[in-house]
Amino acid sequence: MTKPVILTGLRANNDLHIGNYFGAMLPIIDMAKTRSADYQVNMFIPDLHSFTTPIDHDQLQGQIMNNAKLYAAAGLPLDNNNIHLYRQSYVPAHSELTWILDCFTGFGEMSRMTQFKDKSAKLGEDAYAKSMSAGDSNLVTTIVALEDSTKASSRVSLGLFNYPVLMAADILLYDARYVPVGDDQTQHLEFARDIAGRMNNRFGELFTVPESVKRQHEFFGKDQGLRIMDLVNPTKKMSKSDETGKGVIFLGDEPATAAKKIMSATTDDKALVKYDRAAQPGISNLLDILALLQAKPLREVQAKFEGLERYGDFKKIVATEMSRFLEDFQTRLAQVDSTTLITKLETSERTMNTQANATLLRTQQAVGLRPKA
Ligand code: ADP
Ligand code: TRP
Repeated sequence: MTKPVILTGLRANNDLHIGNYFGAMLPIIDMAKTRSADYQVNMFIPDLHSFTTPIDHDQLQGQIMNNAKLYAAAGLPLDNNNIHLYRQSYVPAHSELTWILDCFTGFGEMSRMTQFKDKSAKLGEDAYAKSMSAGDSNLVTTIVALEDSTKASSRVSLGLFNYPVLMAADILLYDARYVPVGDDQTQHLEFARDIAGRMNNRFGELFTVPESVKRQHEFFGKDQGLRIMDLVNPTKKMSKSDETGKGVIFLGDEPATAAKKIMSATTDDKALVKYDRAAQPGISNLLDILALLQAKPLREVQAKFEGLERYGDFKKIVATEMSRFLEDFQTRLAQVDSTTLITKLETSERTMNTQANATLLRTQQAVGLRPKA
């Protein structure tokens, strides 16, 4: 391992929206492409992390492959030997190192992880809501719902609890220094640093300690804060948890349906296209979206379209561009060659197993599970 390692887990499911695409997926791919000359870039599908909360296991295999395909369709180069694309569970050292690290991790420090607290609370809330919606809201229903909620909370898995330890193993196995993570994952990255430091103190230089969150932000450039907003309610961010689906455009939407969503996007009564996030959030959002779709700087798009008075005309331009983008993306997705993709995964997994096993052996020797060399 000569080049410094950048590593990230690619979480993607079947219902990615254009916010995820432009806000997370494309920037990661761009980063991988630009950095791969000087760094080893590890991009993996965290399949072991994907069922820390309940899922439909009949769908998992399909989702894993779809996940990889999405990145390929979005432009991740499969022929770049410095970019590795692999499935976490195909490198068994991830699970093995997790166990070892588990035994040096405190119950208390895991209990304080906010993602664990949020996600386990949500399991209870969802069970409550499901149970309440099944009947009239009388006292009996409420009591049953509360019981269901308690049951769901008590079934919170140990996997959810030690999610951050597996994540630390993902990082430490490859001596990764740079790990681009969103705000919701910074606590987990801090933990990876802590456990690495703790093991090094106890056993000598075992692991590379990943850079601090501050250094990560300096290295990657703190995300420019790009936020695509909901089309119906442009003061909140576009999110998959929108119930109606009208404010969100999914990568799998029919192009015509997506165009309709743009045409009925909420605007204002100013009758003047102008970029003003506070006073005209709907129109500003459409300008942002158009700039992304055309891969042009916002300024250029502003210069071209500001001053238009008929929102209908402007929306039509965005709608046409959107359906063209989706058609194009969906065609590319359908054309991703499975054989090439599987070859890439398998090649990367061979290399990753070699690297990860070396770190695992070092750790096993340090803790006494293997004779020292
Ligand atoms: P959601 O809010 O739809 O559940 P996630 O929280 O799973 O999305 O986010 C996954 C990634 O996509 C994150 O890196 C996040 O910053 C990015 N992202 C999510 N929504 C948007 C959005 N509306 N605009 C830009 N980026 C977004
Ligand atoms: N936990 C990350 C997320 O929810 C995904 C992930 C798993 C990851 N292991 C990782 C990210 C290691 C970076 C490094 O998005």
